[in-house]
Amino acid sequence: MEKIIIFDTTLRDGEQAPGASMNSFQKMEVAAQLEKLGVDIIEAGFPVASTGDFEAVKAIAKKVKRSAVCALARCVKLDIMLAAKAVKPAKHPRVHVFLATSKIHLQYKFRKAEDEILRIARDSIRLARKHCSDIEFSPEDATRTERDFLYRMVEMAIDGGCRTINIPDTVGYSYPQEVYSLITDIRNNVPNIDKAVLAIHCHDDLGLATANSLSAVLAGARQVHCTINGIGERAGNASLEEIVMAMKTRKDVFGDFYTDINTKEIFRTSHLVSKLTDFAVPPNKAIVGANAFAHESGIHQDAVLKKRITYEIMDPHDVGIAESSLVLGKHSGRHAFRDRLKSLGFQLNEGQLNKAFGRFKEVADKKKAIFNDDLRAIVEDEIRVAKPVWQLHSFEVTSGTRIKPQAKVILIKKAKNIPGVSSGDGPVDACFKAVDKITGYKVKLEDFRLEAVTSGKDALGRVSLKLKIKDSIISGRGASTDIIEAAIRAYLDAVNKLKSK
Ligand code: KIV
Ligand code: ZN
Repeated sequence: MEKIIIFDTTLRDGEQAPGASMNSFQKMEVAAQLEKLGVDIIEAGFPVASTGDFEAVKAIAKKVKRSAVCALARCVKLDIMLAAKAVKPAKHPRVHVFLATSKIHLQYKFRKAEDEILRIARDSIRLARKHCSDIEFSPEDATRTERDFLYRMVEMAIDGGCRTINIPDTVGYSYPQEVYSLITDIRNNVPNIDKAVLAIHCHDDLGLATANSLSAVLAGARQVHCTINGIGERAGNASLEEIVMAMKTRKDVFGDFYTDINTKEIFRTSHLVSKLTDFAVPPNKAIVGANAFAHESGIHQDAVLKKRITYEIMDPHDVGIAESSLVLGKHSGRHAFRDRLKSLGFQLNEGQLNKAFGRFKEVADKKKAIFNDDLRAIVEDEIRVAKPVWQLHSFEVTSGTRIKPQAKVILIKKAKNIPGVSSGDGPVDACFKAVDKITGYKVKLEDFRLEAVTSGKDALGRVSLKLKIKDSIISGRGASTDIIEAAIRAYLDAVNKLKSK
């Protein structure tokens, strides 16, 4: 089996994502976690960019022992000197030197001819080699570089002592077959290519960074540049978790390769990087997104409960996620609903389950996600009274600053709809009075409390109240995404208790 070297550039290219910069302490925290994750090389920063970055790279170089610590430098003397100085304390120091080689960059960025670019690169590599034994060279924008010039540049860099040649798809322009051909062509046309490790560095402008990196591996690249959560310049870099898990999961294709990544640390690392950069991980992000191992549709939930592999190609434990989740929402089925209630400690008979499931579907139509607390509220609402005399059918309220609140409530009793209409001091009071007209009870409201069961705009509201009816104090509770409905439900809960006494 051949090892694929994982070169993590979260702390350099990843940090170049607009708004993702971290201070020295934060970078050290991430570096420590990357080492725990098992990355081979940590590109810790671009020391010439700022004193802070120089110090951060130096501090990381002092602390990290197992992974190599690398710093980036342009083909500029000051860059190279600072990069070499910053990584010097590392057990395995590396300097990564880069220079653009594509016609577009030569013409518009440098206004220099190919031979001059070759000379600058050669002199810079020589300088870097004097100060660090491990040099990596990147012909920036390699995928848009004329082939012959690229071969000449790579050959010169290897002759100059570079141990690793990285091929960047700087603007994320390539597609997988192209990358495959490029790596194959470099291997076939650069005479000294076997004296260096070939690396790949892909950006995600067309969403192809992971696919391109994997294609490069199949063509002979043995080092992959990547970042945690795929953060990086513009649309980001190839993401470490996707590359590593694709190779681990698709053994049929990548069975000849392995990485030293401890995949169980992936989720923790993703979380840390997201927290420290303030870059939220999109819920649908592969491997580490909140929905990556979550199932909402009833068909999927039912199948996953029967056999996980029906809809899961990876084991969540392998990436450090405790378990896949069955998210209860409007697409969920009875199987997942029953299963969750069981895990919450509810033992419902078939009738109670049906009632609770019906109510759950009503709530799920109004609310994006149903949390365990929502479920508790729903179930407690539905099972508290064995056979309620009065049930809510529907209600309508009109209310405002210039009108007296009016309510029409329809209750069901023995399969018959009974309407009641009333005005009141507020919409809730109007509803309670409408209910009183239907039930005929003389009721005094003794206590009324409203709280949010869960958070968010669509959170369930729970009303707890106490009513005085015929000298008895009776409490009631009700929950709904609509607080007036929650209030009516709580009111009926109390009234029904009286009737069942
Ligand atoms: O994308 C790129 O070309 C780079 C180089 C510095 C390797 O990040
Ligand atoms: Zn890059």
